[in-house]
Amino acid sequence: MASLNSSPLSSAVHPPPLNRKNKNGADRPSPFHPSVWGDFFISYSEDHKKTDAWTRRVGELKEEVKKMLIRAKGSVKEMIMIDEIQRLGVAYHFEKEINYALEHVYDANIDYDDLKTVALRFRLLRQEGYNVSSDVFNKFKDGEGNFKEGLCSDVEGLLSLYEAAFYGTHGEDTLDAATSFTKGQLTSLMTHLDGPLATQVGHALQLPMRKRIARLDARFYISLFQQHKQHNDVILELAKLDFNLIQWWKDIGLAAKYPIARDRLVEGYFWMLGVYFEPQYARGRNIVVRMFKLGSIIDDNFDVDGRFEDLKVFTDAIKRWDLSAMDQLPEYMRPIYHAVLSTVNEIENELLPGEKFFRTDLLKQETKVLIQAYLEEVQWCNNGYVPTLEEHLKVSLLSAGYLFLTTASFVGMGEEVTKEAFDWIKTRPKFLMDSSLICRLVNDIESNEFEQKRPHAASVIESYMKEYGVSRPVASEKIREMVTSAWKDMNKFCLKPTLFPLSLLTRVVNLTRMIEVIYLHGDGYTNCSREIKEMIKSMFVDPIPL
Ligand SMILES: *[C@@H]1O[C@H](CO)[C@@H](O)[C@H](O)[C@H]1NC(C)=O
Ligand SMILES: *[C@@H]1O[C@H](CO)[C@@H](O)[C@H](O)[C@H]1NC(C)=O
Repeated sequence: MASLNSSPLSSAVHPPPLNRKNKNGADRPSPFHPSVWGDFFISYSEDHKKTDAWTRRVGELKEEVKKMLIRAKGSVKEMIMIDEIQRLGVAYHFEKEINYALEHVYDANIDYDDLKTVALRFRLLRQEGYNVSSDVFNKFKDGEGNFKEGLCSDVEGLLSLYEAAFYGTHGEDTLDAATSFTKGQLTSLMTHLDGPLATQVGHALQLPMRKRIARLDARFYISLFQQHKQHNDVILELAKLDFNLIQWWKDIGLAAKYPIARDRLVEGYFWMLGVYFEPQYARGRNIVVRMFKLGSIIDDNFDVDGRFEDLKVFTDAIKRWDLSAMDQLPEYMRPIYHAVLSTVNEIENELLPGEKFFRTDLLKQETKVLIQAYLEEVQWCNNGYVPTLEEHLKVSLLSAGYLFLTTASFVGMGEEVTKEAFDWIKTRPKFLMDSSLICRLVNDIESNEFEQKRPHAASVIESYMKEYGVSRPVASEKIREMVTSAWKDMNKFCLKPTLFPLSLLTRVVNLTRMIEVIYLHGDGYTNCSREIKEMIKSMFVDPIPL
């Protein structure tokens, strides 16, 4: 629903809304939009001969890469290889090897001379939670504390520093300075560059690696590295085969069997990508996709043409979480209500005894919270009410849907998700609220222009404008600063010693990245869904030519 101030469960990845009847129209059409993908994914079948051969080859290549990593141990080449492996989206094959290698990189504490390597080392370590000091960049500054003039022609060094600087936390002024310095220099250098380096700089300036989803970038780097003169053939071949192999046909086919699964299935999968794509998370994917779909269907029901009275009854029924409450619902809402309860019930049945019931209990709880938040926004919308910033965020951080999606993503994971992790979500920790804040703010900055043309609940921007008496551009700028600040806090939380394993925190970070990626193309609702559709096609449909 782009029309209300919305959440990831709504606008961005959906096909444009159908021309629905208004409030008084008697024949309310089905709330389910038809999928833009038709039966494509259900009828798709894989060619086993081909995939078996690929799988064997992937096994060989993996061994080869492991040997190469050992041979490169302790060298700069080793760090470059790790970086390539990560950019190509195949790092999950080498988790142990990479962890081991980086432990050594950290302990060896080598002080390299060139900016490119110093920044690469810094970023690789920060990515894994090592709290390396940003003082390593001091030697690249002059007596006045500015980055040295001489660096201005070192494109690769600048690019490496640029990417590293987005791992900064509050108080790391060097990294703030590095961000503006490199941004400025790279932007002006762009006019003189061409070839793969220009492509890479352009890509980075659009959005840094810290805010990107590695797996979505795999295709980009595959074609980029292919153009590099000294690319690593082994890693590249592995990346291509791996990309083609993991297109989740089996998962998608399975999910498609669920009654409400047809619509938005693919879009749900796309979002789930932000959570986990690795093969071992099949159960988790399946759960996230189903919950995502439910969330987005409910979101649709709270669209402008939803009658407030009906929505209120629906919200109350959800709070009761009891099939007998269905009788009080208007006819058109019953299938959705039924779907919510039965889906969560199904999920509960799929869990192991030790995982019940604390996992689904929280899932139910977060579903209720989400729907209550939707209802409050509808009320603002109906009353034309512009809440204060604080009031706004109290509701809109919940309607952003990220607590709901984070919970859903934890439900299907393995033992690393303990009961403590679920209890932690309940405490509304800053880390999760920062993630929700980024989601909400990025959404409101980017979709604001479009939404102004339709009735909608006040966005954060409008609340900010009213409260501080500033113009829209000033408010937008302030809100961008809030996003930057929230990212710094999230970065800090991911540094060792972490409260929970990084594998868990990564789900939240990746979800947050997802909103940045989606809204990178958020210059308009229709255009947005076209861009996203292309991305989905490249992820799920078109194989890479070998
Ligand atoms: C999520 O982030 C982690 C850590 O940066 C990365 O290894 C993983 O590939 C990301 N997931 C996707 C889908 O790119
Ligand atoms: C969509 O993109 C096209 C071309 O990129 C542009 O002409 C058009 O105005 C855009 N539409 C919206 C709604 O932004």
